[in-house]
Amino acid sequence: MKKRIFGYFAFFLLVAGVVTVAVLIFDAVSASGNVAKIAIIMAAVVFGLSLVCTVIDSLRRKYFEEEPLERILEATKRISNGDFNVDLVPRHSEKNYNAFDVIMENINDMAAQLAKAESQSKDFVTNVSHELKTPLAVLQTSAAMLLSGKADEKETARLIEVIDLTVKRMTALVGEILDLSRLESAQLLPPRESVDIEDLVSSCAISFEELLDAKNLRLEADLEPGLKLLSVRSYLKLIFDNLISNAVKFSYDGGKIELESRRIDGGAMISVRDHGVGIDKQTGERIFEKFYQGDASRKQEGSGIGLAIVKKAIDRLGGTISVQSVPKEGSCFTVVLHDLAQNES
Ligand SMILES: Nc1ncnc2c1ncn2[C@@H]1O[C@H](COP(=O)(O)OP(=O)(O)OP(=O)(O)O)[C@@H](O)[C@H]1O
Ligand SMILES: [Mg+2]
Repeated sequence: MKKRIFGYFAFFLLVAGVVTVAVLIFDAVSASGNVAKIAIIMAAVVFGLSLVCTVIDSLRRKYFEEEPLERILEATKRISNGDFNVDLVPRHSEKNYNAFDVIMENINDMAAQLAKAESQSKDFVTNVSHELKTPLAVLQTSAAMLLSGKADEKETARLIEVIDLTVKRMTALVGEILDLSRLESAQLLPPRESVDIEDLVSSCAISFEELLDAKNLRLEADLEPGLKLLSVRSYLKLIFDNLISNAVKFSYDGGKIELESRRIDGGAMISVRDHGVGIDKQTGERIFEKFYQGDASRKQEGSGIGLAIVKKAIDRLGGTISVQSVPKEGSCFTVVLHDLAQNES
């Protein structure tokens, strides 16, 4: 604002100066009384002063408008050609930014965001193809063995089992990738409804019955009866399916998993606790990243997408998730969710 007032004032001084100079020169030459001479001198004065003003104005435009505009155009052209390596340097210090400087900063931010999105999507494709390559190789060698006719009856049965298991794992992976991409691309939240938390969490847990039995795990549920949340059922199911799946996967055989839910002001707090391998500090910092798996889990099934889905779904619902964990003692994931407004998107 200060700068704009200074600009108007400078323009005012220039016009006043030009008029004053013209008047003074007219005054000086009018004494001669020679009208033709006065007219020629005044015409020369008007042309001369107009030329000086035009030169001043074009220099001002060149320096203050054309030069930053050219840099901005060049940067936007590079971005539209897919080159996000753009770093426009504003001409003024931050507290004296003009509109061009602000636009430059915004373009720098936009280019950085686009570069980040591009590298994330490249990483995503690399990770997905890496995750699919291993099971595909297993399928290929197993099928080749079967086709060669060299496998005896016992080996044939084993190979068919391997193929069945591998296809199930690939189906699970593709399902997870689809869940994640649906969550990431959904513009609007699906319709919300009143969800009974006790029912939902129990039905998630029941689907792990076989796995719980296989590891001889005890399940303890302390779920507040009648606790309802206005939310998106499919998202809640994704969250608790994945948290319980992890609790089962990372528990020691014969261990215990505890589920708890409590009413809080305008919402619910739900926790899933296990007494398994736990998470060290370094791993804990990255568990919500796509495809990240801690050392302990590499030997296990999975691809490291589960918690990325959990985090995305919780973000979409405006909730929070926190983790407390002690290596070799267990982990507790606590989710806090609030009732959604009917029209929240
Ligand atoms: N309850 C838990 N106990 C110990 N470690 C855990 C637990 N939950 C998650 N983790 C750690 O966080 C990592 C990421 O979890 P996430 O659910 O995203 O992947 P995953 O379970 O390995 O694979 P996926 O969920 O795709 O089948 C795990 O690999 C593991 O190292
Ligand atoms: Mg998981």
